[in-house]
Amino acid sequence: MIYSQEVLYHFTNPCNVYSMEDADAVGIIGDPDCGDALKMFIKVKDNRIEEISYLVYGCCAAIATSSMTTELAKGKTLEEAFSITEEDIASALGGLPAHKMHCSNLGVSALREAITIYRMTQEQKISLKDTINL
Ligand code: FES
Repeated sequence: MIYSQEVLYHFTNPCNVYSMEDADAVGIIGDPDCGDALKMFIKVKDNRIEEISYLVYGCCAAIATSSMTTELAKGKTLEEAFSITEEDIASALGGLPAHKMHCSNLGVSALREAITIYRMTQEQKISLKDTINL
């Protein structure tokens, strides 16, 4: 298996890896086939992702794609961040081996879940603690 230099860089130097205690929303996704799991935290200000971080248990591609997801989403509006695709992440990483493309689903799914939960807390005027994903 051959990974791009960008994948190897993000695998060995992952960006934004930490638990965010004061997150506005958290998305948690697992892949039942391989057992990998991702928890993504977002902080939102004026409809933009002001801060984003994650914790991941997974393969090289899961770590690199999670790192790139946070880099692509940071500073974006919620709409822009929600529209980030697996292909966007793979492309920003210089490509992924075909059988590792599914690993990029974790980042996209966790980010979209976090945004969805954030919107729900805003619409229903409830706190993150009142949601069921913690
Ligand atoms: Fe499970 Fe990569 S093998 S996310």
